[in-house]
This record gives sequence, structure tokens and C-alpha cells, in this order.
Amino acid sequence: MDAPSAVLTPRELVGEAPPSPAGPLSEQEARGLPAPPEIPLSARLQVLRFNQRQIQFVFRARRELGEVFRMRGDGSPVITSHPDHVQSLFTAKPEQAPSLTGESPLRPIVGPNSVLTAVGPRHMRQRRLLLPPFHGEAIERYAEMIAGAADREIDGWPVGRPFALAPRMQAITLDVIMAGIFGIEGRPRRGTPEHGLRQATKWLITASTLPAAQLVELMNIGREEAVGIAKAGLAMLDRPTYQVIRARRAAADLEDRRDILSLLLQARTEAGEELSDRELRDELLTLVLAGHETTANQLAWTWERLVRTPAAYERLREAVRTGDAETSAAAVETTILESMRSRPVIPIIGRRVMVPWRLGEYAVPADTPVTMSILLVHHREDVYPDPYAFRPERWDDNKPGTYTWIPFGGGVRRCLGAALAMAEQRVVLEHMAQRLDLEADDPAPEHATHRNVTMIPSRGARVIRRR
Ligand code: HEM
Repeated sequence: MDAPSAVLTPRELVGEAPPSPAGPLSEQEARGLPAPPEIPLSARLQVLRFNQRQIQFVFRARRELGEVFRMRGDGSPVITSHPDHVQSLFTAKPEQAPSLTGESPLRPIVGPNSVLTAVGPRHMRQRRLLLPPFHGEAIERYAEMIAGAADREIDGWPVGRPFALAPRMQAITLDVIMAGIFGIEGRPRRGTPEHGLRQATKWLITASTLPAAQLVELMNIGREEAVGIAKAGLAMLDRPTYQVIRARRAAADLEDRRDILSLLLQARTEAGEELSDRELRDELLTLVLAGHETTANQLAWTWERLVRTPAAYERLREAVRTGDAETSAAAVETTILESMRSRPVIPIIGRRVMVPWRLGEYAVPADTPVTMSILLVHHREDVYPDPYAFRPERWDDNKPGTYTWIPFGGGVRRCLGAALAMAEQRVVLEHMAQRLDLEADDPAPEHATHRNVTMIPSRGARVIRRR
């Protein structure tokens, strides 16, 4: 996805898209507008291509059909990449455009009532309960714990021979999740529920990355409860999870604890209700699944780009080694913004429009899934000149736009863990850039492959450590 960089100043590196009307329409208004152009492939072939090579698929479709197109077949999604269309969906009333995550493959695992899968008032209730512990200030307290997890992990990395960063990043994010979400720090003692929970979480995460996981996912799609091997795997995880929840509910120091489980145990709805054990289990599992692989692979992508973009790597390395906190923080921040722009680990998100919807010159009928290709929005030439180049300096004088920089989605469904994900990335990236000198093991860029809903570097971001 690389192309030669033009000479543009940072200020010129972020622009604006021309306006394009979007939003709800009456049935009559919708009849006056054409449907978006359709991908000229059989329904089966298009799904296969989309699943296997989403990047090539969406870029080609946009080149040939324009910024709005639809997949073939009844009930198939429409894909858009215009910021005004994104805005219309992010700011829509939730009942007019509920999130497609309600239909997610995670539904049988986390149940229909977690903050990820619930829709309408139930979603808002769960979101209100979960928001306070994920607030930016609450998350700042975790910086030291994240730094400890990063340093412990980095200490064990080999020098002089290639290794993949993605699994190493996952080891760090697992530690952060265990400490931040469950309040389980370091390696718990064998035989304790805490140890069982850590092991079962690790197992579940490893299992979800195996090729067979796709089959298991297919078996479970559309169900309310998991079946087959997924059910057995979940039972293994549920046992220690419930044990940890019950023990913590009874803990004498509950009020002094700052981990998310302890905060949720003390949270009450407006009607004064507390979360049941089942609700807590569903939310905690949602946070583990939503927060672990995403953050780890985003960090892996950052390094995949840095070791192949010497100017960006040099800029970051110099800034973090000056000893000036402000210079260092600015370089780290702009590198993360650019990584999430050029390689958004979740490349697509969606809403189901419940009324006819205008998307520029087109209209789609009620009950259409409308997906926003984050990847395409982030590679618009009008918004991001030189879009295929990795140029952190584009963020020196420019702030990320609410509808043009959307790796965390937006509106009432915006990623709940965004502050935690940013904090983790900041600390881990800074520590790695300070302590290590890394090189690509192969100058060819890694291409993107898809795992569950994420887009990850095909070889796990392989590097060689020189220092
Ligand atoms: C770099 C890391 C991450 C990325 C790129 C990411 C991205 C996203 C995206 C794109 C969505 C859907 C937003 C939408 O539809 O508008 C989402 C939702 C969500 N994320 Fe993240 N996420 C990350 C890390 C995390 C972390 C660390 C957690 C928690 C520990 C988390 C928890 C959630 C939850 C609970 C939702 C559902 C929110 C709702 O539907 O109300 N995410 N995330």
C-alpha cells in the first residue's frame, strides 16, 4: 500500500471532502433517488473475496463504482466512505440506525445483553454503567501498571534473531486486562480462581486465533447461546470468572479497589439496581474480547510501519530519547494517530438503517445494513493527500476529525475502551522506542489478513532486535 511521498507540509496533509447530503428520507423522497451501484460478482464470490482480501476488494470497488456501492443479494450491506455519510449514521437516533454489533459473531459468547450486543435503552443502561471506569482520568492511573507489564515483557526479547511482535504485544495487553479489568496483578498462585481465570482467558484467546475458530464461529453465528466446542470452552472460562466475581463481591477492601470489576460491583443504575453475576460476567468477557487483540495488533501494525519507514522511525526515536517529556509525548501521539489511520485494526463498522436513508446521490431502503469502510475513509485523497504514505507529521498541525479519523467508530457506539487503548499504546510505544532498536526482517511490507473482525499483519509484524 506504499506510494512515493509528495513534498507536502504537515498543514497540507489533512484536507476536507466535498459535501455530500445524507440522512433519513421519507418513502416518497427515497423513490426519487437511484440505488447505489452493485458489485458485479456473484453473491458467493463477493463474500469469499471480501473475507479473504478485504483491502483489495474495497479499494477496487471504490475505484470502479465510486464512494458508495452495495454487495449483491437481498439484505446485503451497502458500503460507504464519505465523512458526511458517516456523520449521518453516528449522529442518528439509535432506534433509526442501531449498530450491527448486535448481530456480531460474539453474541453467543457474551450474550444478547452486553454493552456490545444490546440495542436501544438496554444498551444505553449498560453503557452508562460502564463509562465511568473507562473515563480518561480513571485510565491515567493505569500508566504505571502498563509500563511495568511492558518492561517485564521487553526484558525477555531475543537480540539478533527475528521474532513476531504481535504475540508479544498480546502478552502485554493480557497483563493489562487482567490487572485493569479484574485487578489481578502479576502471575497469580496456581490453584487459585485468579490463576484459573488467567489461564482460561489465555486459552480462549489462543483458540480464537486458530484456523478452526472460523468454523466454530460459523456454527455459532446468529445463536443466543454457544454450542459445541465453543460451549465447552466457555464453561472452562465461566467457572473461575464466577468464582472471582463472587469472591470480590464479598471482599472487605472492595471500596478501595480501582479495577473495573470492583468499580462495576459498586455501580448502580438510576433505579438503584446493581449488576447481577451473569451481567458482570457478560460485560467482563466483552471487555476482554473487545480490548485484547485489537490493541495488541494495532501496536504490531505501528511497528510494521515504523521499521519500513526510516524517516518516521528516526523522528520517533530521537524524540523519545531527548529526555523532554513534551517532545516525546507529541511524537508518540502523532505516530499512533497515523498508525490507526493507515492500518485501522477494525477496518469496517456498520449500522442497520430502519428508515430509507440518503447516501449522497443514492438512497437505500429501510432495513439495510450500511457499513462504513474505515479503511476507505482513511485513504481518501481529498482528506489525506498522499494517503498510502506513513507520515506521522501530518498530525503535527492537524487534529483528528470526528468523521474522518474513525478507528474507534463514533456516536453512542464509539469504542468504550478508547482511552485505555490509547493509554496502552502510548506507554508501550514510548518504552519500546526508548529501549530498543528494531529492524524489519524483510523489507517487503506485511499484507493484511483478517481474524474475526480484525485486520492484522500477515506475519505478526516480524522484527529483528539490534539493541
Ligand atoms: C486499538 C484498540 C481498539 C480499537 C481500534 C477499537 C475499535 C472499536 C470499534 C471500531 C468499535 C465499534 C464502534 C462503532 O461501531 O461505532 C469498538 C467498540 C467497542 N470497544 Fe473497542 N477498540 C479498541 C480497544 C478496546 C478496548 C481496550 C476495550 C475495553 C477494554 C474496548 C471495548 C469496546 C466495547 C465495549 C465496544 C462496544 C461499545 C458499544 O457498542 O457501546 N475496545 N471498538
